[in-house]
Amino acid sequence: MNAGTMTLPVVDPDYLKSISELPTELALQQAAPFLVRLMKDPAFFEGEIRPLLEEARGAVGDWYVAHSYGGKDHTYSLQVFIWPPSTETEIHDHSSWGVYCCAVGSVLEERYERLDDGSRLDHVRLKKIRQRMWSKEDGASSVLPHDGGIHRVGNPGDDAAISVHLYGPRIGEVDGRDYELSCDYVCDRRED
Ligand SMILES: [Fe+2]
Repeated sequence: MNAGTMTLPVVDPDYLKSISELPTELALQQAAPFLVRLMKDPAFFEGEIRPLLEEARGAVGDWYVAHSYGGKDHTYSLQVFIWPPSTETEIHDHSSWGVYCCAVGSVLEERYERLDDGSRLDHVRLKKIRQRMWSKEDGASSVLPHDGGIHRVGNPGDDAAISVHLYGPRIGEVDGRDYELSCDYVCDRRED
């Protein structure tokens, strides 16, 4: 992962911090339109996305985070993902709310629902409830923390995609959880 933590010039860190201090539902109501506006911002595209186009189109191997801009103490994290063709995440959740929007190309998101009550350690029963493609024109997808946002994101297409994700403050110690559908397994995911 090639991710550094720094300040993004076209984004006011105080605004992101103010979003991160809101309750989850209110934060998502602010974060989703913020990302949509950011995707339409020519300065963001020229400064952040265009320099990644060549890298993204030549990328092989797995998806990765090209840039990461974070608030202090995990208050928020703005991340730029590069998705080479035929890449996808594990089924996972996050220990924070999150929104993401495609800047280039499109990604497929699968959403899952948890059927069990979580009482058995490391055990999960999942049901896929929907999937859809997200392009820049489709706006932002959002996830709630933990069971409210179990998903898989990937790029099944032939062209590279770039997406921008904003995560809120982490609830708890871990980054989230990874799920293994084939054996009904779930485990904590620590940060790299
Ligand atoms: Fe995710």
